Amino acid sequence: MPRAQRRAWRRPGPLAFPAWRRVARALPRPLLGHLLPPLLHRSEDLARARGSDVAVRAGARGRSSACRSGAPERRPPGGAIVTETRRALVLGGSGYVGREVVCSLAAAGARVVFTYRRGAAVAEALSAETGARGYSTDLASPSAIRALFAELHAEGTSPDLLVHCAVVSGTDALADVTDARFDELHAVNVRSVFVAVQSFAAYLSGRPGDVVLTAALDGIAKIPASVHFAATQSARLGMTQALAKELGPRDVRLNLVLLGALGGGISAGLDPARLADYKRYSALQRTGAPAEAARAITRLALHNRWMTGSVLPITGGL
Ligand SMILES: NC(=O)c1ccc[n+]([C@@H]2O[C@H](COP(=O)([O-])OP(=O)(O)OC[C@H]3O[C@@H](n4cnc5c(N)ncnc54)[C@H](OP(=O)(O)O)[C@@H]3O)[C@@H](O)[C@H]2O)c1
Repeated sequence: MPRAQRRAWRRPGPLAFPAWRRVARALPRPLLGHLLPPLLHRSEDLARARGSDVAVRAGARGRSSACRSGAPERRPPGGAIVTETRRALVLGGSGYVGREVVCSLAAAGARVVFTYRRGAAVAEALSAETGARGYSTDLASPSAIRALFAELHAEGTSPDLLVHCAVVSGTDALADVTDARFDELHAVNVRSVFVAVQSFAAYLSGRPGDVVLTAALDGIAKIPASVHFAATQSARLGMTQALAKELGPRDVRLNLVLLGALGGGISAGLDPARLADYKRYSALQRTGAPAEAARAITRLALHNRWMTGSVLPITGGL
């Protein structure tokens, strides 16, 4: 047996066991193909047992990773993909999209905590289902956000992954928008993003991190929209670009998932005629499901390496 092939025999796998190797050597070569396959887990093992140089070389090629994407996984700085070690904070976890994100991150093995405000019943059910802990937090209050991060830090559970799914929607006409209403939307939709990312970055203490923001098309695409709400959504786009540049050198990625019309949540408050238009002009001709949005958010949160400051449109082709 050539030396290279003997080396291959020593690799872990069923044929790494000396007893199996003795059996295989003793058998007439034609019998090997019939008797061994049920015992083998890997095609390379079978190839080695058959003494096939071609297959053994093919196995070696796989291991030497001429195909870059097949290279053994090494964790580059900030390239964390092992989800069980990720600590995720989902702001607005009690919402239509947020609760699916909590479920999806928890199912992927992340340790998740989330915030809610009015949705205590949803939060309780979500905690029972996923084990994720809910924190009652008014995101309109910067001091409440900072207190939440300080509390998580004190507990030793500072997040390295932040997903912002909280929002106050607005469908008012221009003439009806009061100063108070304008400020209410900006407090949650804009300032809470700023304060949360600021606190998140402060408590990362040198760890790499990921932030995923969410936004609607209003203010980003040319669609009919209420101006105070549209202003908050385009502000999220502006923050995405600026924050990514500022935090990138610290190995923190920050991206924005741009959602089209879903079947509930803030879209429940839309004029039915406008919702019908969204369906008609979207390529898929339907609203999206929250799980479809959450899947994209979770992938971006857990598996992205080199994308930052970018917008990922999940819109059904709108
Ligand atoms: N649903 C859609 O069709 C759609 C379309 C495009 C984009 N999006 C985007 O997707 C994201 C989530 O939207 P959604 O439809 O899931 O919204 P949603 O169902 O209305 O949920 C809003 C979330 O924000 C929380 N929230 C609001 N004000 C708060 C405050 N002052 N303090 C703390 N939490 C507060 C709510 O908490 P409580 O309920 O506990 O009070 C809830 O968890 C948003 O960024 C939105 O722009 C959604």
